[in-house]
Formats: sequence, structure tokens, C-alpha cells
Amino acid sequence: MILIFSIEFSESYINFHVYNSLEVFLFRYLVTSALPYINARPHLGHLIGSLLPPDIYVRYLRLKGEEAIYICGTDEHGTATEIAAEKAGVTPQEWCDRYYKLHKEDYEWFLLDFTGFGRTSSPSNHELTQYVFKKLYKQGYIFEKSVRQFYCPNCKRFLPDRFVKGICPHCGAEATGDQCESCGKLLEPEELLEPRCAVCGSEPVLKESKHLFLDLPKFAPKLKQWIKANKHWPDNVRNWALSLIPTLKPRGITRDLKWGVKVPLKGFEDKVFYVWFDAPIGYISITKDFVPNWRKWWTSKDTRLVHFLGKDNIPFHTIIFPSCLMAAGFILPYNVIAAEYLNYEGKKFSKSKGVGVTLEDARKLPYPPDYWRYALVSMSPETHDSDFSWKGFQESVNELADVLGNFVNRTMVLTYKYFDGKVPEPGNLSKEDKRIVKMIERAPTEIAMDFERARFREAQKSVLELAREGNAYLNDQEPWKNEKVRANVLFLSLNICRSLSILFSPVIPQLSQEIWELLGEKGRVKEQRWDDAGKLLLKPGKKLKKPKILVKKIDDKEVSKYEEKFGGAKMADTVSFEEFKKVDLRAALVKEVEDVSGADKLYRIALDVGELGSRTVVAGLRKYYKKEELKGKLLVYVSNLQPKKIFGLESRGMLLAGESDGKVSLAILDRGIKPGSRIY
Ligand code: 2FM
Ligand code: ZN
Repeated sequence: MILIFSIEFSESYINFHVYNSLEVFLFRYLVTSALPYINARPHLGHLIGSLLPPDIYVRYLRLKGEEAIYICGTDEHGTATEIAAEKAGVTPQEWCDRYYKLHKEDYEWFLLDFTGFGRTSSPSNHELTQYVFKKLYKQGYIFEKSVRQFYCPNCKRFLPDRFVKGICPHCGAEATGDQCESCGKLLEPEELLEPRCAVCGSEPVLKESKHLFLDLPKFAPKLKQWIKANKHWPDNVRNWALSLIPTLKPRGITRDLKWGVKVPLKGFEDKVFYVWFDAPIGYISITKDFVPNWRKWWTSKDTRLVHFLGKDNIPFHTIIFPSCLMAAGFILPYNVIAAEYLNYEGKKFSKSKGVGVTLEDARKLPYPPDYWRYALVSMSPETHDSDFSWKGFQESVNELADVLGNFVNRTMVLTYKYFDGKVPEPGNLSKEDKRIVKMIERAPTEIAMDFERARFREAQKSVLELAREGNAYLNDQEPWKNEKVRANVLFLSLNICRSLSILFSPVIPQLSQEIWELLGEKGRVKEQRWDDAGKLLLKPGKKLKKPKILVKKIDDKEVSKYEEKFGGAKMADTVSFEEFKKVDLRAALVKEVEDVSGADKLYRIALDVGELGSRTVVAGLRKYYKKEELKGKLLVYVSNLQPKKIFGLESRGMLLAGESDGKVSLAILDRGIKPGSRIY
């Protein structure tokens, strides 16, 4: 028998696998969210950065008929947890037991539909981490080395990388010892200039300790080939990952700590694995704990593994974890989606400084989860850093009320008024009605593209546009005045409502379910088929439930109250001109450039600053500019910055430069003004 399959090819990521032209397989999607650290309650930035997008994606995939699981859990090991527990006067285990529950409750309140929400401290994660390690070890990817490591004599502990603060040798920004957030480079703490203990601020001392290293350079050729082949990855991820390859260094994977996975090797009994070594293995062990047939999910080429994370996690998910996966015989990620940062009213979210809104805070406010989901997607940092503001929150919710809530309500009220709450029987369709039918038919395909690319902000806009069109159709046709068009207009409008409830359900699942039920539909909207949103499936004669207000608008008073309570627009960081004028910016001419011996990233740059005389700055520009490129350039110089000692040299002032995707560009003055001229 010859089987003929109808296969729709599109540019989309979701498509069919065709073998021997007759067998057709669907891909299976294993979607993960970066496992949140357990040392504190999560905030809105975590929710929109790495937790909500995979939830939306998986909900969408399921509507498309794909098999998809969503794996998440708490990242529990490491010093941050030890310190949090110590401060609270409990053991790390007790801390984690308590916070695991709190995290889970927070996420479930926001309707995150996990297939499994597990823990990296689980027995299965300990076992799998040791398994992956042994695989790496047997294949010669691990070596031993004695290293000098920072130890804080005041705190009496070895300092993990993130707990050493200092200056990035590559770009000169403030960085922690594992990574520079500003230029994205992976760091070893010893590379930091002017190191300090992040807990107490004391100067740490270096102590000798024996550690195990993952030989990342051995993976470089394979990684490069693999990343290059992943042309469908978002540019920010692919470019960043590729830029890391030429400078890959072995990475220490053990730590002198107690709270972690034990190292199964003689001589290392009193150490544990680095938290970043066992955390991503958590994706596998959580699958093992919650999903039958976990091995198939992690080894079959038909699985598409998709990681969602914040941009600072890119190196771990594109370099370090994939190296472990290669060695252990698991599949590699199919896609890595990295969010930029969400700020709070113009500032960085910070628990210690009390900036931002935690999920715990948000749960206490009188807004249902879908208001947050919709508003956060509207402000989502998908392509660039973005800002949460209470005003923005209000605008989003009110837009949802005005456009979606209003359309559904008007349609239903009119149906009650003129057709006793039953879907009317349409007659011959007018030209305008036919346009609306076409619009409904096209909607699922058009909107799918953005969901597939994980561009949920755009996707959500397009769904809302359908409701906007619905409102315009009602306004235009005036079924309350014009009896002739009434049945057709309401029949089609009710069908738009049905389509909206399906298309909106990945983002606002609860409101979508409410619409679904108002329309008299049975079952769960999340279990419908995406493509059915393009059909007129709400049949004449069907009885609707009584209309009700779906979305309540937020007034200005409420907004002011929360701005005040949580620190909002009124307190945002703005700088008066008087304050700005305190920064003395000058044109500075580069006279001499020399290498700083012992620091391969730094130049010592002699500047002519006119009336201020000669100045010397030490800058991490060596990788980005040749000496001769700099000489003779007229740059923007901050003259009144407090002097700083870098590698024993006094650096006075600072040169302005910009950075993106690991590229650095100096602010160069393009007309010949005199050195020392003021810049405003
Ligand atoms: O950056 C973070 O929040 C980490 N806890 C993410 C870990 S992701 C994974 F690999 F576990
Ligand atoms: Zn300390």
C-alpha cells in the first residue's frame, strides 16, 4: 500500500522530518528554562527573562499538536545557598526544602505549566552529574591542576568565582570572577583586577588547592563546527558563542565546599562540583524524575532541545554544557533563546538594594496572573534590554481591557440583546463579511511564525490586532442599528472570539479559558488545535453563557500607589543638568600607547588634554585596537574620575567607549577640535 502524506513545508522551525519519502515523524520538543537560583525569591525579571517564554512556547507547540515537555527546577548548590542558609540560621538542606516549595508556588501562581519542576540537589542529579563526569574523565577531557584560589580570611571560606568582585581585565568594567556581564567574557577570578570578597569587602588571599579542570579547548573544533551549522539560532546567541571559541580555556569544575555533588575521584573526596557543572545536568535529571522514557528524550535525534535563558547564561549553554553533552552521548541543543535584561523603572533589579518587584510581591496585588503575563510580554526584553514600569503595566492591562475585553463583551451583549444569547444563523455573506472570513482563516498561519521564532511580543501584538479588527468590524457595520447585517456580523464576531481564545491561550491561558467557556464551549482551550482558530467552528444555535467583564482597567491612582510602594517612576534615576555638569568630559589626544607588562589585555595610554596637561590612563583595549590605530586619535575623556591603581600603575580618568556582542568601540571625535576642549 502506498501512503501519501500531505506535508506542508514552510520556513518555520516546526516542520516534519521526512525519511524515505514515506515515513513521517514529528519532532519532540524538550524545552527548558534556566534553573533559577534558590538563594532568593525570584522577581519579575526572572519570570520574563527565562521562565515565562518557555511556558508560552510549550503551550503554543502543544496547540500545534507537537509533543512538548517543559523542564525546570531550582538550582540549589554552591556558596550562595550556603551563605543564605547561614544567614537564616538553617542548614543548606533546610533552606532548599523551604525555598523549593516557595519557588514552585510562585511559578504555579503565574500558571507556568511545567512537566517537571525538580531540584538539582536530588539523588538523581547527584548520580547523573557523577556519571557525566566519569564519561568526561574516561575520555581524557579532565585534568588535575593545583591552583591558587581566593580565600577570604574574614569569612573563612574559599570564595567561589561569583563572590570575588573586581575589574574586568578585558573591558575595565566591574565584574565578578566567573564572567564579565559587560563584555560577556568568561573569567577566572584570578584574572580580575583589584579583587575583593563580595560578601564582606575584605581583600582575599590566594591559597593553593588541587582542582579538576574540563579541557574545553579540546572541544573547540567540534563546538565551532556545530555552532556554525546552527544558522537558525538567534544572532545574539550564535555570535556570542562563536566569539568565545578562539579564547577557550580549561575551566575548573570542582570547588572547596560542602554543599554540592561529591567528586567521585580519589584525592577529591572533600570537594564538590562547581554549581555550574551540575546545574545544567539538572535538565536531564529532572526529566528523569518526571518523564517516563527520559533516556529517549535525551538521546533521540528526533528530540529538539530548546533552552530559554538570560543572556549571561549563553556561554554555559552553548559551550560548557554542550561539551559535557557531547562526551556523555546526549543530544545537543537545537536552539538557545537568550533574553536581554529587564530593568525596573530604569534600574537593575536588585534584592539587596530593594529594587524591583518579586513574584511574592506581585502575587499579593489584586491582579490575576494573566495581567502580569500579558504586560510582561509587552515589555519583554526579547531583542534588547527593556524596562518594567508601573505605567507600562497599566497601559498593557488597559489595552487588553479596551481591545480584547471590550470586543468579547460587546459581541456577547449584542448576541444576548438580539438573539437571546444564541449564536445566530448567518445568511449570504457580504463582501465585508468575506474579508473577515479570510482574516480568520489566515490568522493561525500568520501568527504562528512569531511564536515559532519565540518572538512572543510580536505574536501577542498580532493576536490583539485580530481583536482590534473585530472591534472595527462592529463599529463599521453597526449591527445594533442595521438589522440586515446583524446575524452575519455577530456570527462572525463570535467566531473571531473563539479564534482569539485559542490564539491567545499560550500567553493568557486563564482569560482564554474564560472566553472559551463564555462561548459555551466545553473542555480546555489549551487542548484545542491551533489550526482550528482559522475555522468557523462556533455553530448557529449554540447557547452562550451570560456576558461579564473580562479585564478590569487600572486607574492612575492605583499606579501611583504602587510606584510609591515599590519605588517607581518618581524615584527613577534621572540626572539633573547640574549633576551631569559635574562630569568633566574633555577632548584628549592620544600621544603614546604602551603594553602593560604582565597584563595582556591592557594598554598604558598617554594623553594630551590641553589645559589639563598630560594624563595617563590604563585601559583594557589591547584586544580591540592596535597601538598605531590609537595614536593621534582624539577621544572623549572623563578627566575628574577618582584615580585608580591598576597593575601598580596610576590610571587617571577614563576613555569613553561602547560595547555590544563582545565588540568595543571608542568614542572618537571626528573634527579637529583642540585637546582639552570641554565636551557637553
Ligand atoms: O543564572 C542562573 O540563574 C542560573 N541558576 C541558571 C542555571 S541554568 C542551568 F544550567 F541550570
Ligand atoms: Zn569575606
